[in-house]
Amino acid sequence: MIRTICCIGAGYVGGPTMAVIADRCPNIQVTVVDLNQARIDAWNDPDLSKLPVYEPGLDVVVGRCRGRNLHFTTAVEAAIASADMVFLSVNTPTKTKGVGAGQASDLRWIEASARQVAACAQGHTIVVEKSTLPVRTAETVKVILSAAQGEVAGAGAPKTFAVLSNPEFLAEGTAIPDLENPDRVLIGGEDPASIEALASVYGHWVPQQRILRTNLWSSELSKLTANAFLAQRISSINSIAALCEATGADVQEVAHAIGADSRIGAKFLKAGPGFGGSCFQKDILNLVYLCGHYGLHDVAGYWQSVVELNSWQQHRIARLVVQRLFGTVTGKRIAVLGFAFKADTNDTREAPAIRICHDLLEEGAHLAIYDPKVPESQISSDLSSGEGSWQSVDSPAEAVAQADAVLILTEWSSFAELNWQQLAALMRKPAWLFDARSIADLVEARAAGLNVWCVGCGF
Ligand code: UDX
Ligand code: UDX
Repeated sequence: MIRTICCIGAGYVGGPTMAVIADRCPNIQVTVVDLNQARIDAWNDPDLSKLPVYEPGLDVVVGRCRGRNLHFTTAVEAAIASADMVFLSVNTPTKTKGVGAGQASDLRWIEASARQVAACAQGHTIVVEKSTLPVRTAETVKVILSAAQGEVAGAGAPKTFAVLSNPEFLAEGTAIPDLENPDRVLIGGEDPASIEALASVYGHWVPQQRILRTNLWSSELSKLTANAFLAQRISSINSIAALCEATGADVQEVAHAIGADSRIGAKFLKAGPGFGGSCFQKDILNLVYLCGHYGLHDVAGYWQSVVELNSWQQHRIARLVVQRLFGTVTGKRIAVLGFAFKADTNDTREAPAIRICHDLLEEGAHLAIYDPKVPESQISSDLSSGEGSWQSVDSPAEAVAQADAVLILTEWSSFAELNWQQLAALMRKPAWLFDARSIADLVEARAAGLNVWCVGCGF
């Protein structure tokens, strides 16, 4: 029976996942550790609005369990030593240098965490890969752990280990409902007792038929495949959006029509500025790298094209803004509404806004950026100035003041309620609305005298 859990990595995945486990399993002590003191301090902040991750409902869950059976600390070694089960939830970004640069995952933090577990664990420890990893990473983790197998640390029992893969399927912005009511939980492993130990943790709130058990490699590959399929749908609909704009079709109508076919399904068919987030691009590049490694070059090329189409869509939107503004944005003020990669998160990793803003800055634009949750310091670390310049502002009205154009890049629900009569009056004429998320009230925007472009809308 699992009584103590340690999670290494207090990020977007580790924090919310452990909060929900602690909430649903009051008999298990859950400790989340991280090297980053500032991040841990933020998780411990008495003011729950200051948690380092913004997720609707997370503050309530953390408020219920923190100090009871949910703890955040930098005391990594002690937490590992007392844990029956250790989750590895550290970041695995795409390598920027060396072998596999631009495609392969950088596994240095997974390896470092595995070494820490090997050094500090006592007795039997089940190690769970939570981070998305290339297929066969568990092999590396196992080799590192087995080097310490049988050692005795302090007064503890001899060390033994089992490795499981338990990939995360939560989406940011809906992490809490995704964790509380998952479509499925996937557990890959070799040791049936360890698999059942983890299944019994989830069994506190997830029906058994939704807990899938596979071998390690199927579990690792399923995570990459799920993200690749989801991303592929977005690239597919974005490719059709461009064709809609050229032909007079409306991508929302097309998406609705094809999504009504139960074989296709209605979800993940929203055209937009391309996918962002920490996972999709990284995971597909990882898949591409793996295929190449196994000599499957045509398969690699197939998946690579999903990423290429995504970049193309982002550059296309920036180009289109420049073209509509008479071929130049040099010195022009453009209001950018939304910087997060999707609504209801403060996360900007791989946000479409970064690439689109970058292109516009290269063209010499002045960007006035408003996002309800992304602070100026984050925008500053994501953008360099290029030819143009940018500023972070506190409201849509401030952003559009004297702007030639307004560009919506994140689907924050508040943007659906913007009063275009009022906003248009503040802009320099002729003025444009570019709605890359099809969220604005376009009828009202046109009535307010704005020229309007909406993704995938061919009128
Ligand atoms: C990460 C990965 O990006 C993703 O691939 C995986 O599926 C889940 O884990 P996320 O939680 O969003 O996702 O990452 P991040 O917010 O960067 O958090 C990772 C945390 O691990 C950071 O706070 C970092 O300080 C911490 N960390 C990293 C450690 O505590 N120890 C380390 O050795 C390395
Ligand atoms: C994704 C997966 O959904 C999740 O299962 C996995 O664990 C992590 O990666 P996340 O990246 O947090 O989650 O968000 P998601 O909702 O999948 O959105 C990813 C990107 O796709 C966002 O930029 C979003 O705006 C975009 N998107 C999504 C579209 O452009 N159109 C859609 O129809 C859906």
